[in-house]
Amino acid sequence: MSPDHHRKFTESTLVVASHNPGKVREIAELLEPFGIAVRSAAELGLAEPVETGASFAANAELKARSAAQAGLPALADDSGLVVAALGGEPGIHSARWAGAEKNFGKAMQRIEDALKDQARRGNTDRRAHFACVLALAWPDGHVESFGGVVRGKLVWPPRGDKGFGYDPMFVADGHDVTFGEMEPKAKHKISHRANAFRKMVDACFRA
Ligand code: IMP
Repeated sequence: MSPDHHRKFTESTLVVASHNPGKVREIAELLEPFGIAVRSAAELGLAEPVETGASFAANAELKARSAAQAGLPALADDSGLVVAALGGEPGIHSARWAGAEKNFGKAMQRIEDALKDQARRGNTDRRAHFACVLALAWPDGHVESFGGVVRGKLVWPPRGDKGFGYDPMFVADGHDVTFGEMEPKAKHKISHRANAFRKMVDACFRA
C-alpha cells in the first residue's frame, strides 16, 4: 500500500502503550522531531492487557487498541527473537523465556542448549532475526501496523553488555560484533524497531 492510503497522525499527544520505561524513552526520543507530546500508559494509570495474540501484530494491536480506549491515540510495540532451527521460538514468547525474574542469561542458555540439541541431529542452522510490529491505534478503533526485522545469526558465548534481552548472542548480517557490543546509536540505525519506526513515520507522520 502506498503511504497515501494510511491515516495521518494529526493529534498533538500520543500515548505509548508500554509500562517499560526504556521503551517509552526510546519512542519519545524518536518522536521528538515531530513535536508530539508523549505520555506513557503507566503515567495515565492504564492497565496492561494480557497478551493473548498468536502473532507480534496481534499483540501489538491488542495493546494499542486497549490503551486508545482511554480517549487518546496510542502506540504499542511487540517484539522478539525468531530462531529458524527452533521453528520460530521463542518468538512472541521471548519475554516469557526469561521467566518472572527476567533472567536473559538463562533464556540465552536455553536457546543455546536447544541449538546444540539440533546440531546433534545434524541441523547446524544458527540463523535468527529480531522482529518488531508497531501498532498505532485511534480511539475510534482504527489501527495502522508496521513491521520491521533485522536478520543475523546467534553466537556463543554471549558478548557485550550495551544492549538488553538477547542482544549479547545476536550478530546482524554484515557485522562482526553482537548487538550487546554495538553502540546503541549504531544498533538503532539497523534494528527491527528502527525499521518498523521508519515505515510508520513515512506513512503516518509526514505531511
Ligand atoms: P515484549 O515487551 O512483549 O514485546 O517482549 C519483547 C522481548 O523480546 C524482550 O523482552 C526481549 O527479550 C526481546 N527483544 C525484543 N527486542 C529486542 C532487542 O532489540 N534486543 C534484545 N532482545 C529483544
